[in-house]
Amino acid sequence: MNRAAQPIGVFDSGIGGLSVLQALRAELPHERFVYLADSGNAPYGDARGDAFVSARTHAITCYLREQHHIKALVVACNTASAAAIHEVRSSQPVLPLVGLEPALKPAAALSKTGRIGVIGTRGTLTSEKFSRLLASLAGQAEFIVQPCDGLARAIEDSTARPLPTDPFATETRALCARYISAMGTFGTETGQIDTLVLGCTHYVFVADELRSLVGPQVRLIETGEPVARQTRRLLHKDALLTPEDSIAEAPASIRLLTTGALAPLQAAAERWLQLPPDCCATVSIP
Ligand code: DGL
Repeated sequence: MNRAAQPIGVFDSGIGGLSVLQALRAELPHERFVYLADSGNAPYGDARGDAFVSARTHAITCYLREQHHIKALVVACNTASAAAIHEVRSSQPVLPLVGLEPALKPAAALSKTGRIGVIGTRGTLTSEKFSRLLASLAGQAEFIVQPCDGLARAIEDSTARPLPTDPFATETRALCARYISAMGTFGTETGQIDTLVLGCTHYVFVADELRSLVGPQVRLIETGEPVARQTRRLLHKDALLTPEDSIAEAPASIRLLTTGALAPLQAAAERWLQLPPDCCATVSIP
């Protein structure tokens, strides 16, 4: 079997990782992708706990390897990466693996006021991995860390509905407003938060709401593009990039799979990736 021609696996608790898939498609247009949304078990980050998230990550990694013969895996979920990336790395030593973490280092390098907001799930922001990351940047900036309970779930739910006529009246907007105001004052003056790290892949889909709340001068930082570049580097290092001239034999393709209901994934795929409903299917992964 020609490994380079196999798809790249991408996995999230739900539709949030589609924001990473957008960046992967742009960076690697000749690659095939299989995306797994574990929406039947989402959200991971509010109250599931590490043992559950770790077990799901393991089961999904095995499923993607055995059923789809993936050549690499992108864990497009900060919560699953925080809970399980080390275990996946040791149980799958030959699988090129990319995990996510909130982009604190780039934020510290870019912030002028030295005050940085970080939003993510409770699972990510209370993890040991995140504590170590924060500790490694001690003294370089002040991080205002805000878990956003319910926000990933609300984003997940909202994709199934038609676009609202009044975006200011939605549940996602109300949750964003509550958490942003709990963090303090945003802006570019001394003492204000001038950089906001989106530490959950779902939140990229409410970036417009967040931007309207923090103001246009505040920089929003997410991880899709750096993750896509890192994926390219890993594939290149292992000689696993799809050669551009092989596309005619095995056209680039994207399959989106969900352990939950099909319609929300189809709606998200159409809204954010302009993909037709027949790219999507349901699967069962015990
Ligand atoms: N999208 C995920 C993340 O990046 C998790 C959201 C959830 O399931 O709570 O953390």
